[in-house]
Amino acid sequence: MSDLKEVSLSAADKTVVLPVHQPVLGQPCIDIGKLPKETGCFTFDNGFTATASCKSAITYIDGDEGVLMYRGYPIEQLAEKSSFLEVAYLLMNGDLPSKDEFAKFEHDVTKHSMLNERFTQFVQGFRYDAHPMAMLMGMVGSMASFYHNDHDYADPEQRRLAAIRLIAKVPTIAALCYRHRIGWPNVYPKNNLEYVSRFLHTMFEVPSEPLQLSPVAAKALDLLFILHADHEQNASTSTVRLVGSTGANPYACVSAGVAALWGPAHGGANEAVLKMLEEIGSTANVQSAVDKAKDKNSGFRLMGFGHRVYKNFDPRATIIREMTYKVLNELGINDPLLDVAMKLEEAALKDDYFVQRKLYPNVDFYSGIIYKALGIPTEMFTVMFAIARTAGWISHWLEQQNDPDNKIGRPRQVYTGSASRDYVAIDKR
Ligand code: ACO
Repeated sequence: MSDLKEVSLSAADKTVVLPVHQPVLGQPCIDIGKLPKETGCFTFDNGFTATASCKSAITYIDGDEGVLMYRGYPIEQLAEKSSFLEVAYLLMNGDLPSKDEFAKFEHDVTKHSMLNERFTQFVQGFRYDAHPMAMLMGMVGSMASFYHNDHDYADPEQRRLAAIRLIAKVPTIAALCYRHRIGWPNVYPKNNLEYVSRFLHTMFEVPSEPLQLSPVAAKALDLLFILHADHEQNASTSTVRLVGSTGANPYACVSAGVAALWGPAHGGANEAVLKMLEEIGSTANVQSAVDKAKDKNSGFRLMGFGHRVYKNFDPRATIIREMTYKVLNELGINDPLLDVAMKLEEAALKDDYFVQRKLYPNVDFYSGIIYKALGIPTEMFTVMFAIARTAGWISHWLEQQNDPDNKIGRPRQVYTGSASRDYVAIDKR
């Protein structure tokens, strides 16, 4: 199977020879591009479970083996030794930076973290209790209106600048949205702080007293950002690429990515996990929650369980699980929700329903507990994910802009509507 070069496919009385792409790692991909022309047939792949939509050199996942690598580096090594900003550089540029390259990157990101003052006026237009993801989506999209003179994306420098702006400003925008929601005055990002601490400062500093930044909190958040930075062609990244395929500007593309991330089947799961744990309330109710999740009529799923790609374990969940205990210990937090989470994990992992379907805790099962311990409110959880994933989204956008084979994404459909019929005047219907 591994040195397969082509396959023959017979359809509609025709046989067509289709080339096979051999990736550096992973399964071979049959290129069906000439199928419609040669056989008159399209292919149907509900939810893209069997279809690669692009070639990419950024992230590799082996779902059966629980492997995740950014640019070839195992996530476990990056989680232990790197920082989010270095990972962002790696994703964008393909290799780890030298000292000088990193210093310049950090300087550029720091310099661009401040927002045009009009953003603070723009955010005032949102209702006082607007969901931060709704605000983030609008605010990121609005960046296109602030930088409309720099829209020549054929110019690699303008592409790089847009990427830097997004990585730098999304955390500042996120904090602004949060502060609007709770009625706090805007805080400007401090250039003397590193990326994650700067974000924590813009989130939590109040004019009345200086903020004591916790190194444990900064380290934990940095780790969560590394783990969430990219995940190859997931729903939001594919959305960014689909929008990017039309030539839309990167701010519009990333705003579309934020929209896709918001759904509870994707990034919204971290918020849903915490709500679910709170609803379960105590370890005594865990078994009934598991039973409810197995009942298809209940419409209830265990949030934070299952993954489209990982059918063994999610390596990010393994790292986060360990981090969760460490953070709660170091911050001296005794959270009963963690007991509920542990019991739920234990009950599900030995239940046949979950075992047979290979449903394991995913990255979001634990991230919410850490966010809660760091004082991040539930409605900001998916925003945290978006801050980290911006690095991945924009790296995919950059890769796509350099791809000579890039063409507008335009799936086909299986039409299920009425056959041709004649218009009937309204008084005859
Ligand atoms: N709880 C209970 N049953 C589940 C769950 C779950 N969390 N997830 C999947 N199943 C069941 C399905 O009902 C289905 O059962 P069946 O074969 O008897 O019909 C089977 O497992 C396969 O499920 P699918 O929905 O077909 O799997 P898919 O790959 O399409 O979905 C997904 C993956 C969306 C993540 C799903 O597992 C889910 O909804 N999980 C809960 C939400 C969640 O945690 N999302 C975060 C994903 S990670 C991320 O985006 C960062």
